[in-house]
Amino acid sequence: LARGVQAPDLTGRHVVVSAGGTREPLDPVRYLGNRSSGKQGYALARTAAARGARVTLLEANTGLPDPAGVDVVHVGTAVQLREAVLKAAADADAVVMAAAVADFRPATYAEGKIKKKDGVEAPALTLVRNPDILAEISAERARPGQVIVGFAAETDDVLANGRDKLRRKGCDLLVVNEVGERKTFGSEENEAVVLSADGGETTVPHGPKEALADTVWDLVTPRLL
Ligand code: CTP
Ligand code: CA
Repeated sequence: LARGVQAPDLTGRHVVVSAGGTREPLDPVRYLGNRSSGKQGYALARTAAARGARVTLLEANTGLPDPAGVDVVHVGTAVQLREAVLKAAADADAVVMAAAVADFRPATYAEGKIKKKDGVEAPALTLVRNPDILAEISAERARPGQVIVGFAAETDDVLANGRDKLRRKGCDLLVVNEVGERKTFGSEENEAVVLSADGGETTVPHGPKEALADTVWDLVTPRLL
């Protein structure tokens, strides 16, 4: 199906999109990170802008250039992303959490580079939980009727895990995609199933990340107050 010019059906709306992956620093030169490229989030931001929305893109470690016509906020860690999401979501009609948020961060940050020590085999890493941003904003909506979308990357039992996650997070839509060594991360294309809290299930065939992004907005638009 060719994608034509989209109707400006997000005109007058403010949408917030997070993209990329958080990095949790261990010391000044090291971090715990993930393989999210940010491309799906950028596609969501670009397509929303093309459909007339005011877009706030919360970018974490993508290295991608700022898209034209979009307000971009750069963040590094999950805690910083949470602050940025809470601020931007205050007057948002929709929030899409496409970013890969680290579930854990190192319990302590070493002000100086961690060095090897004679007689010590390897230091143990202690981690603590990061806040669950999606669950938090879904439980406590900044505005009545705000539409909240999550993403889930699953390697096994993709649909069952997705249903479960949608319920746990309390969001309205969950975009579920299967990931693996060669699947999704860094690629220009994606395929997914979008689950909705009201039981709906929309399959998006393999294609450009823009096509999946437009399907997400197609599902968000009728849910807006
Ligand atoms: N997410 C979030 N805050 C976190 C972790 C995840 O907001 N601390 C969001 C992600 O942006 C994504 C969704 O939650 O939209 C699902 O992320 P995922 O990692 O699949 O979910 P988890 O609940 O962390 O489950 P898992 O144990 O499978 O990683
Ligand atoms: Ca996770």
